[in-house]
Amino acid sequence: MSNESSIESTLQELRSFPPRSSADLGMAAWHVGSMEQYRQMHRRSVEDPEGFWAEVASDLHWFQPWSRVLEWRPPDVEWFVGGRTNMCYNCVDRQVAGGHGGETAIAWEGEPMPGGKPELRRLTYAELKEQTSRLANALRSMGVKKGDVVTIYMGMVPELPVAMLACARIGAAHSVIFGGFSSQAIVDRVHDAQSQVIITCDGAWRRGKVVPLKENVDTACAELDGTPAEVRHVVTVKRCGNEVAWRPGRDVWFADVVAAASDSCPCEPMDAEDMLFLLYTSGSTGKPKGIIHTTGGYMVYTYLTSKLVFNLIPDTGQLYWCTADIGWITGHSYIVYGLLPNRVPTLMYEGAPNFPGEDRFWDIIERHRVTQFYTAPTAIRAFMKWGSQHPEAHDLSSLKVLGTVGEPINPEAWMWYHKAIGGERCPIVDTWWQTETGGQLITPLPGCTPTKPGSCTLPFFGADPAIVNDQGEEQEPNKGGLLVLRKPWPGMLRGVRGDRARFISTYFSRVHDPKTGEPYYFTGDGARRDADGYFWIMGRVDDVINVSGHRLGTMEVESALVSHAGVVEAAVVGMPHDIKGTGIAAFVTLEPSFKPYDKASTDKLKDDLARHVSRLIGAIARPDMIRFTDALPKTRSGKIMRRLLRSVAAGDSNISQDTTTLEDLSVLAKLQTDEEG
Ligand code: WTA
Repeated sequence: MSNESSIESTLQELRSFPPRSSADLGMAAWHVGSMEQYRQMHRRSVEDPEGFWAEVASDLHWFQPWSRVLEWRPPDVEWFVGGRTNMCYNCVDRQVAGGHGGETAIAWEGEPMPGGKPELRRLTYAELKEQTSRLANALRSMGVKKGDVVTIYMGMVPELPVAMLACARIGAAHSVIFGGFSSQAIVDRVHDAQSQVIITCDGAWRRGKVVPLKENVDTACAELDGTPAEVRHVVTVKRCGNEVAWRPGRDVWFADVVAAASDSCPCEPMDAEDMLFLLYTSGSTGKPKGIIHTTGGYMVYTYLTSKLVFNLIPDTGQLYWCTADIGWITGHSYIVYGLLPNRVPTLMYEGAPNFPGEDRFWDIIERHRVTQFYTAPTAIRAFMKWGSQHPEAHDLSSLKVLGTVGEPINPEAWMWYHKAIGGERCPIVDTWWQTETGGQLITPLPGCTPTKPGSCTLPFFGADPAIVNDQGEEQEPNKGGLLVLRKPWPGMLRGVRGDRARFISTYFSRVHDPKTGEPYYFTGDGARRDADGYFWIMGRVDDVINVSGHRLGTMEVESALVSHAGVVEAAVVGMPHDIKGTGIAAFVTLEPSFKPYDKASTDKLKDDLARHVSRLIGAIARPDMIRFTDALPKTRSGKIMRRLLRSVAAGDSNISQDTTTLEDLSVLAKLQTDEEG
């Protein structure tokens, strides 16, 4: 793919929306209220990062001050060197110490609506302090020490942030696994992290059905038994009341261990560079990468981005809602860690957007008087399809700032969001960032940045993004290229668990500063910058597909397919999809004895394969289109011609092809090479 760095860009969007005055919106004030202020602050943040970030960090609590703000020896970075702090302290104890213990930290709504009424819970900072202290003590009694990794595989219940914060309290790192992943994902991640304790739920509610989380954990544990990664303790939250298997000695109930533990547990002073969490993300090779985030820099970065991008102001009646699952980085940074230190309550919703009706989100916004709302383009496209009558039936006038994240938003969806949800009133922050970046890097600020539908606009403070070619030379305006970051920022990843070579080769070896030879951070995204300096993300340039805003490595899906007895070889590419943005297209060559002979057997085999992938990875990876082919198109050197398959997939809207004769796509490759030759 090396010569795809110069990407053709066709999207032309000329509309621009100026920011509103805070008074207009009923917002107390804008933290950054003019472009002049933005430019001045941005200049300072890149010219004097140490001064800039030291000031921000001083808003938070440190047990011991840092001796140096920044140590940059690419690819290694340290922020707040020698400083000691604690994330849980800054999220929880600091608010209690400030006299705010009785205020709501987390508001929660369950999915079921028994008798038409939602189930609600509120956790104050004081309750969070007690709960996290008790669970922290319970974890210690199970032998969890500073530096150990605790695996968390839960639904969206308040005990999930409690579990994360309890780990942070005692300096254990957490590894949260999205509850939609299968047991195989647990096996791989627990094994990689050498994690001996898992915190889970009996089940999770999803569209009225129970997802059997504990059962998946049991399956994973059975596979790990007798290996060095054997799981010693499983702590289960009772949520759905579904029946679960129980192994005495390993299994305990969350409520029991919390009740039995002491409620006193001072926060462990952590080095700024001690690991806070691991979060596994897909790469272009098969194995997911354990992205390492540390304590001090991540805390300061998520605190400031949350504050400025959503214009959080305590004591002004704000209620912030991010619809992401905490199993993804968005939930880590913008449901939990960025929000609590800002002392604005964060709303968590347990379930699906279309349960019991397609207006559930708007109903939630109306009932809770949500002020900031952060969601994904894939969700917005689904809302569009369900229709404007749903938001129209609800009072959304409490909303002040809208956000999106996860993938490029098409201008049509942006305009719908602006009108149907924002009432043409609310600024939209289209925030570009990644699991690896920890926090938002390219984003509008709601009080000052004129927005353009489809553009994530301008760099956040401290960020120095650029569009370059493979030689590291900056591209002229509107010319597509590789998106890189030329300077370190506090929230950036510190490594890939157990794989330094992969850390360097993925992020710090493709593009270098043409003058100094210093590596740039390579994002894996292609983008362009327009004449106003606005960034337009064009998508991934590697073998990663972004399905519904979630990254999947094509290799992962291919490996899952090939592990089926009937599959000889598989190639997976992204294809345009109305709702998901990108869907998964799989081209599969079969073992002769598995070749289908009629439409029914073709459909059955496709269905088998789709289920097989779902079982191994999770429903998110289920292919949207499977085509059987006698051979895959390959270059003379044997590389699968993905670009060709991408265009074949894009031209194929007929998802349930009933062709029973196998195609020979390698013919296409021959045509192509003939043309090229
Ligand atoms: C894509 C999610 C365009 C991008 C926080 C990136 C976006 C990948 C945007 C990271 C956006 C995220 N506009 N594309 N506003 N936000 N992306 O690690 O391709 O799940 O590299 O982090 O999502 O996905 P990840």
